[in-house]
Amino acid sequence: MQTLDSIQTAVPPGALASPAVARNTAPILEVLRAHLPARARVLEIASGSGEHALAFARALPETTWTPSDPSPEALASIAAWRAEADQPNLNAPLELDAAAPETWPEVDAQVIFCANMIHISPWAATEGLLAGAGRMLPDPGGLLVLYGPYRESDVPLAPSNAAFDASLKSRDPAWGLRDLDAVVALAKTHRLHLTRRVEMPANNLMLLFRRA
Ligand SMILES: C[S@@+](CC[C@H](N)C(=O)[O-])C[C@H]1O[C@@H](n2cnc3c(N)ncnc32)[C@H](O)[C@@H]1O
Repeated sequence: MQTLDSIQTAVPPGALASPAVARNTAPILEVLRAHLPARARVLEIASGSGEHALAFARALPETTWTPSDPSPEALASIAAWRAEADQPNLNAPLELDAAAPETWPEVDAQVIFCANMIHISPWAATEGLLAGAGRMLPDPGGLLVLYGPYRESDVPLAPSNAAFDASLKSRDPAWGLRDLDAVVALAKTHRLHLTRRVEMPANNLMLLFRRA
């Protein structure tokens, strides 16, 4: 099994590198290792730089990992990391807008993974993500994995998350930390049920939704 230390590489030309990814990859990987089905076929939505996709494909060689993003800059970055890596289980990135699930390409996936998009996009992206996941994921066996910060009715908002929320809203009033209860309720309408909530470093959560 490859360790994360053994998979760090120099940033290739045209690729983006995120300091947050460097910090959160190992804890996210730990949860993925524990919960992904064997030989999982994963569609990643909002892949951003593509560093998560490469790290998880390398660390989980039995999986097939398909990254995606709507941003041309992100797609170019993911492609640059992929070209550098020559990782056989990492597919070419797909152009995919979570907010328009009717336009999603056909992907044979039983897992959808999405990190750090829900609070950095309008609510329509979350609506589309949940509708698209509800349509694409197999029943039984489908798994939707979300990572990021949320507001929770029974947990005080950490000061760092309150400040993050304010900064997001100052960049775009349609952005901001979402109410977890609202996400869970909407997911349920698409037959996706929250089965696990994992507390992550820096006041983030990892949320697992399963078909039922
Ligand atoms: C903060 S980055 C997160 C990237 C990566 N998942 C991570 O955790 O580092 C947010 C990403 O969401 C993508 N995004 C924004 N709106 C989106 C949408 N409607 N559908 C899919 N991705 C979207 C952006 O292009 C960007 O790559």
